[in-house]
Amino acid sequence: MDCIVVQGGKKLSGEVTVSGAKNSALAIMAATLLTGGTHRIAGVPALRDITTMKRLLGHLGAGVEGSDQLEIVTDAIETFEAPYDLVKTMRASFLVLGPLVARFGRAVVSLPGGCAIGVRPVDMHIKAFEAMGVTVAIDKGYVHAACDELKGARILFDMPTVGGTENIMMAATLAKGTTVIENAAREPEIVDLACALRNMGARIEGDGTDRITIQGVRELTPLSHTVMPDRIEAGTLMVAAGITGGTVVIKNCPVPVMGSTIDKLREIGLIIEEGQNELRVSRNGALRHVEVTTNPHPGFPTDMQAQIMALLTLADGTSIIRETIFENRFIHVAELDRMGANIKVEHDTAIIAGAQTLQGTTVMATDLRASASLILAGLAAQGTTVVSRVYHLDRGYDRLEKKLQGLGADIHREKEKQQ
Ligand code: EPZ
Repeated sequence: MDCIVVQGGKKLSGEVTVSGAKNSALAIMAATLLTGGTHRIAGVPALRDITTMKRLLGHLGAGVEGSDQLEIVTDAIETFEAPYDLVKTMRASFLVLGPLVARFGRAVVSLPGGCAIGVRPVDMHIKAFEAMGVTVAIDKGYVHAACDELKGARILFDMPTVGGTENIMMAATLAKGTTVIENAAREPEIVDLACALRNMGARIEGDGTDRITIQGVRELTPLSHTVMPDRIEAGTLMVAAGITGGTVVIKNCPVPVMGSTIDKLREIGLIIEEGQNELRVSRNGALRHVEVTTNPHPGFPTDMQAQIMALLTLADGTSIIRETIFENRFIHVAELDRMGANIKVEHDTAIIAGAQTLQGTTVMATDLRASASLILAGLAAQGTTVVSRVYHLDRGYDRLEKKLQGLGADIHREKEKQQ
């Protein structure tokens, strides 16, 4: 396994370009199953979850070529089963359920199982599919879905679910009649997926709001789409600039959908100058303590929680972070405390006593955003930080250490020494 080694204390400077959004690319890749033909997706990030989705599409019978420009041929889908060994490594695999049921009337998809940050059930997906006339049976950890005719329905989600909204929106494009999704998730990646689906001939309105209306059509045509930039990678790079006290220009930034991240980082004391699709981030003086609550978009993103926590360990005063989306997304706290941070967790709330200096040491990544948080802390820590198990990082970041190296960070990857 690889580890990342960081020598802290370098102020970052220069320009960096954000890659395509993982959470948009994965859904758009699943959408190609909705019809035969040759699909083209540009701006695909190079990361492990994308490789997993390529393997899954290949397993189903699709032809997948390319890396940042993908060509996916979906004429010869010959199996409708997404096996556990693929789905367990990446929850987004569950997004093939909607397209397979919509096009072929059946699918067998492993339940994703939990992950480090929470149980992450799919009950809302299943309830919504049943409302559309899908018969769903769960047997030995697999969801068996079948329907003779997918019907449009009114779906009301108990709480916004990104994956649930995406799965139902994709299926509804081929359903008979109209589907209205209420209390829909409003994440920008859902809007990007809707744009790709409209490019296929789907009739979708209201994406980006909490009410999405989809008029089913008889068939779709292959998509051609460029994935939107990754707002979470962009936010992570903003924190890298702030935590080192450097000045960084972040290019290919989806600025219009980053309002909550920009506002919160400004409140902490970062100086953020907005361009059309770039941000210039610097810092002038001490970091200020704040209160943060994660919320569905357009609120502060849960996927930025671990990263902003690293920054707040160096702020003056005590900060409060409340995590409302996942029940166990504070695993990075123990590792940050080992670096000298002073963080206490009470239920869904982390209390960060700031103004600490962080000490480099060996820490272990436990999930995707925790990995980023530990690397960010290492950039500011005194001495050397070794982050192990960075396969977590590689799931969701496109060569992050290379991007940080390009900004002057003393960071490199090496093989973990056998214990
Ligand atoms: C998506 O996950 C993202 N993943 C996550 O990003 C992100 O953290 C999450 O949305 C929230 O924004 C992808 O897009 C591939 P949800 P998803 O359904 O769709 C509960 C990252 O770091 N829930 O919006 O799985 C669920 O347990 C990853 O890039 C149910 O209870 O998230 C969670 O508490 C991590 N039943 C909450 O809803 C359901 O049927 C939100 O989950 C579905 C969800």
